[in-house]
Parts: sequence; C-alpha cells; structure tokens
Amino acid sequence: MRLLVTGGAGFIGSAVIRQVIAETDWSVVNCDKLTYAGNLESLAAVDQNPRYRFEKVDICDAPEVTRLFAEHQPDAVMHLAAESHVDRSIDGPAAFIETNVVGTYTLLEAARAYWKSLSSDRQQAFRFHHVSTDEVYGSLGPEGLFHETTRYDPNSPYSASKAASDHLVRAWNHTYGLPVVVTNCSNNYGPYQYPEKLIPLMIQNALAGKPLPVYGKGENVRDWLFVDDHASALRTVLANGRVGETYNVGGNSERTNLQVVHTLCALLDELRPDSPFAPHANLITFVADRPGHDLRYAIDATKIRDELGWTPRETFETGLRRTIEWYLNNQGWCERAVAGRYAGERLGLSTPSKS
Ligand code: NAD
Ligand code: DAU
Repeated sequence: MRLLVTGGAGFIGSAVIRQVIAETDWSVVNCDKLTYAGNLESLAAVDQNPRYRFEKVDICDAPEVTRLFAEHQPDAVMHLAAESHVDRSIDGPAAFIETNVVGTYTLLEAARAYWKSLSSDRQQAFRFHHVSTDEVYGSLGPEGLFHETTRYDPNSPYSASKAASDHLVRAWNHTYGLPVVVTNCSNNYGPYQYPEKLIPLMIQNALAGKPLPVYGKGENVRDWLFVDDHASALRTVLANGRVGETYNVGGNSERTNLQVVHTLCALLDELRPDSPFAPHANLITFVADRPGHDLRYAIDATKIRDELGWTPRETFETGLRRTIEWYLNNQGWCERAVAGRYAGERLGLSTPSKS
C-alpha cells in the first residue's frame, strides 16, 4: 500500500505517519507546506526509513499536486493538511479559506484525474480519506451528542471552512464516483501539539510561571481524544470504512476547560514538586471569552465502534499524564517550534468586520 498523507508534518499527521511506519509495511509520502504548524522534527523517528518520503508541497499548487500523484502512484490519500486553530481563524480567515477550501478542491481535482487514469481494479481499491472535525456540527447545549446525521451548523471561520471542505468531498463522491471516506473527530491532545492549543499552551505557561488564560468562565466542554487513538481510528476507517460514509470519532471524555486545567495543574504539582510555581492552579486566570465560543462538543462514536470495532485505548487521565511527561522531556522541541513565530500571546480577539 502506498499512502499519500497531506499535512503529515503537523500534530495528527505526524502521529499517523509514525504509527503507520511502525505498525504496517505501507509506504508513506508526506505532502506538507511547512507552515508555522508543520515541523519535520516531529518525524525524526521515521525520516531515515526507506518507506517514508517527504515532499514540501502546498496543496493549493495544482501542478505540484498533480506531479505528486503521477510520481508516487498512491493507493490512497489521507488528507489532513489544514489551518487548524480556531483563534487564528478569527484573526485571519483568508488562509483558512485558501488551504481548507481551495486546497481541498485542488487536491480533489488532482485525485480525480489520477483515479480516472487507474486500472479498474486500482480504481475500486482507491480511497480519498478526508479528515475533519466535530466543529462542523456547531454547538451542543448541556444534553445530547453529535451523530453522523447531525445537521451542519458551523460557527467559526475555521469550522465553516472545514464544513465547506466536507461538502466538496461528499460532492466529488456523489457526482464523480470518487471513492471517499470522511471522519469527524473531537479534540485531540498528546505529544507534538503546537503550543497554541489549550493543553500544550497551559503546560508551557505553567512551567514558566505565566498566567493560565481560561476563556470566559471555563465552562465550555470538549470531548478529548488521545492523538494515537485518533491515528488508529483513521487507519481503521481507511482500511475498512464504507465508501461514501462518514464516521464520527470521539474519546467519550467530556471535560469542562476548567476541569482540564485543574487536572493538568495537579499532575504538574506531582511531576514537578519542587517547582517555584506550585500549586500551579494558583496561576489560573479568567480572561475575555473567545468570540462566538461554542459551548459544548460531544461525539457519539457508536458507528465506528459497532461497524469497524474501533475504541480508544487511553483514558483522559492516562493520556494527559503521558502528554505532560512528553512535554517535560521535550522542552527543546517546544522552544524550537515557537521560536520567532509565537510568544504565547492571546489570539482570536479581533472584532469582526462590519462591512
Ligand atoms: P496542525 O495545524 O498541527 O497541522 C496541519 C499541517 O498541515 C501542518 O503540518 C501544516 O504545515 C500543513 N499545511 C497547512 N496548510 C497547508 C497547505 N496549504 N498545503 C500543505 N500542507 C499544509 O493540525 P492538526 O491538529 O494536526 O490537524 C490535522 C487535521 O485534523 C486538520 O484537517 C484538522 O482540521 C483535523 N482535526 C484536528 C483536530 C484537533 O483536535 N487537532 C480534531 C479533529 C480534526
Ligand atoms: O473539536 C475539534 C477541534 O478541536 C479541532 O477541529 C481543532 O483543529 C482544534 O484546534 C480544537 O479546537 P478548539 O477550539 O476546541 O481547541 P483549543 O485548544 O483552541 O481550545 C479548547 C478549549 O479551550 C476551547 O473551549 C477554548 C479554550 N481555551 C483555549 C485556549 C487556547 C482557553 O480557555 N484558553 C486558551 O488559551
């Protein structure tokens, strides 16, 4: 099997590639533009492996994407390349429209032309796997779960761009017969996540004795999934998912943001008992809410469990401990990832344009 992964230098894509190289005999081509979020250091464990290749390519560059298909002859595409941070989408939506919408369209068109050129056996076996988010479903109240049939209702520029890309992928299946599968996953956490997202930002700030900025009252709920569990779900759907179907992926681990930050502080107190900043919970600071902040996400993952036999291995507490230990042991990765790019400042407070 030859797999073309887009966005493989990012948080989830690199976890997928490390897992695929370690646990299968597949070959992987990683197509990544290397934005601020892309980091080849995250692939150090595989970059000397003869089954791994890196191609620095922007998915919006049609001739280059076409060349990738012709040169590498993939059996499947797993499409993760995206702008992924909600707060950045509030400050600057253009890159989200460009990569998430136009980039997905460009990749679909190149994939379609390539797929049509294949023999009928290879056409049948080919898969285009689009990796998406539960945020396309909008916000839940205190009750209920997101199902695969939940109506799309995206609220942020990020989630609207991902919803648009989901619709394009579905249409390329319906209209052209491209064999697609789609997954919509909840919040991931784990090693190698860029320290702009809640959990790694809080770890980095706590270690430096900086305030831990909790948006609003900290009562928003997310459904947390350890990144390696997401990677195994993606492999499962790619291998066995039914063409044209969507599978929701979640951790069955709902927590309020305040619960997450308190658990994280308690673990840091235990793992760094001599820290001058312990107890770390004293650093918690409530700050202005995110504009348009979705209250609650929670996934019903019954379909992927019953049809494909996937369940997460890690609980939130075991996964969070592993994550914090990784960050404590990999401060160099974090420092180099943010150097000259991101100083931990608050993102996403731009006032929307009135025009
Ligand atoms: P990330 O921001 O860590 O990584 C994104 C990667 O895409 C980076 O390596 C970046 O360089 C690359 N990229 C960006 N624009 C590109 C372009 N134009 N061409 C080629 N490469 C480009 O993101 P992530 O958290 O790993 O998310 C990966 C995918 O999973 C995204 O599609 C995201 O929407 C989806 N997702 C993320 C989560 C989560 O909690 N992080 C949950 C559900 C779904
Ligand atoms: O649900 C899946 C989505 O999860 C993915 O599609 C996105 O790519 C991913 O970034 C994530 O989006 P969120 O907006 O939920 O993640 P983030 O880590 O930015 O924020 C998690 C929650 O924590 C959210 O309610 C906002 C809050 N928050 C975030 C930051 C960065 C804070 O309270 N303080 C912070 O400093």
